[in-house]
Amino acid sequence: MANITLKVNGKTHTVDVEPSTPLLYILRNDLDLHGPHFGCGLGQCGACTVLIKGEAVRSCTRAVSSVQGAEITTLEGLSSGGKLHPIQQAWIDEQVPQCGYCQNGQMLTAKALLDKNPNPTDAEIRQGMAGTLCRCMTYYRIQAAIKRAAKVMA
Ligand code: FES
Ligand code: FES
Repeated sequence: MANITLKVNGKTHTVDVEPSTPLLYILRNDLDLHGPHFGCGLGQCGACTVLIKGEAVRSCTRAVSSVQGAEITTLEGLSSGGKLHPIQQAWIDEQVPQCGYCQNGQMLTAKALLDKNPNPTDAEIRQGMAGTLCRCMTYYRIQAAIKRAAKVMA
């Protein structure tokens, strides 16, 4: 066990954990942040995505010790001052979720995409979102929501 210091959604936390523990487990079990979901646990679905230094990262396969001191953002950290982020609002406006399980990963992957490419084409959205899986097949609504959010964020 070791003391690991994490910066999550602008707050600093110190946890006493096994250093190889996946970041996802610490976020959900120790910090009570339930935005990131456990899907495959193998880095293949994206349900557990968080932002680390602005990059979409799969927290199920990332050892907590490897992200010590890095700025981590979970879905809970996207909104600010009680106001939803334009991506979250666009998800509501387009009624994207079906079961909802994958949508944490969809929104955070979209955030990383729009931060790099504020006005993506349909093809760029498909490429940027590839690998973030939705078993309910909400992909067309995700695409519409990303385009809607891009307009608001422009
Ligand atoms: S739960 Fe992490 S990628 Fe599937
Ligand atoms: S909304 Fe059900 S898995 Fe994506």
